[in-house]
Amino acid sequence: MPAAAGSADPDPLITGVQDWQRYLGDGVDKRPYGLPSKFEKHIVRRDVGWLTASAESSVNFTPLHELDGIITPSGLCFERHHSGVAEIDPGSHRLMINGLVDRPLVFTMDDIKRMPRVNKLYFLECAANSGMEWRGAQLNGCQFTHGMIHNVMYTGVSLKVLLDEAGLRPNAKWLMLEGADAAGMNRSLPLEKALNDVLIAFAMNGEALRPEQGYPLRAVIPGWEGNLWVKWLRRIEAGDQPWQTREETSKYTDLLADGRSRKHTFIMDAKSVVTNPSPQAPLKYKGRNVLSGLAWSGRGSIKRVDVSLDGGRNWQTARIDGPVLDKSLARFYVDFDWSGQEMMVQSRAMDSTGYVQPSKDELRKVRGVNSIYHNNGIQTWLVRSGGETENVEIG
Ligand code: MTE
Ligand code: CO
Repeated sequence: MPAAAGSADPDPLITGVQDWQRYLGDGVDKRPYGLPSKFEKHIVRRDVGWLTASAESSVNFTPLHELDGIITPSGLCFERHHSGVAEIDPGSHRLMINGLVDRPLVFTMDDIKRMPRVNKLYFLECAANSGMEWRGAQLNGCQFTHGMIHNVMYTGVSLKVLLDEAGLRPNAKWLMLEGADAAGMNRSLPLEKALNDVLIAFAMNGEALRPEQGYPLRAVIPGWEGNLWVKWLRRIEAGDQPWQTREETSKYTDLLADGRSRKHTFIMDAKSVVTNPSPQAPLKYKGRNVLSGLAWSGRGSIKRVDVSLDGGRNWQTARIDGPVLDKSLARFYVDFDWSGQEMMVQSRAMDSTGYVQPSKDELRKVRGVNSIYHNNGIQTWLVRSGGETENVEIG
């Protein structure tokens, strides 16, 4: 509870004059590009050293427990690259459309920026998000268990507009998207999706894409696994079948218990996580508290989020606040009083198709534990009586 003003024991932060009141602050010439306060320095993307052999083919994670609302600040969007960040001069960047088209074309960035634009807010989730958690609780923090996700406002051109310009041949059924990074990462995309809602984006959150996010051009594939969102996009080839690239055969396929593999599991199913409290954000106070979290679905919008404080025995419907958009993060809250009891905190999302996020056991019945990808099971945080919070699993 807030302290009563005018108490017998005066607070020097109220009665005294502080340094920042005594001296002039920085002038408008000191910060041509603004950065967060120095007191927020610890809020950064973090990686997990032992996860990958090199930093160039690796991932760092969005600090979800330090964010609010639904927009991910550009500088905190997790990064996943196969061969590091390509630093591309936009004047030298080209996008070629070739293959089964009437007019193979090469676009400059200026060509693309003279085509009709759209603005859309979408989440990007790596298929490997929560991938370390299949065999049990592993990483201590929602940054690491769920932080391969970001939610960004994109500006770009509808891929359909670009394809219309090139003129697709009737036998075109698939596209191959290829990046200009050292990996030349490429992936096959069914034409039906490409013509539906895919964007070729050059801006995020109102300014040019960050180098880490694919500057100057990336694919935006709403609701589908992050690997398809090719960064540093340099080529789109039209063909009549998938290319069977590395990223859709040896990687990004889902190994089942019987040894078979699911492939082309493009869509990210509904999922949610409580970001506060969580292991990096323990409860500090008894009494009034705000539980907060994020929910999303690659199949549509979030209809409802239920929260349990007792490991799934009782559920209450959380309050969703802020815009609820298609294939975007939604922010939920439960305002509650904590008396210091141990809690097992969970959240369960339901999307506009009626799909309900499964428990980890339900998921394992269908998927086994051999997979890395598409783990959307319900997360449990154990909040101890002192407020410390841990990643746990209950049967
Ligand atoms: N595109 C290229 N060219 N190279 C890459 O390594 N990584 C993919 C995808 N696009 C990748 C890429 C993967 S696996 C994911 S999850 C997303 O980009 C990550 O996007 P982000 O770095 O903006 O978070
Ligand atoms: Co990925």
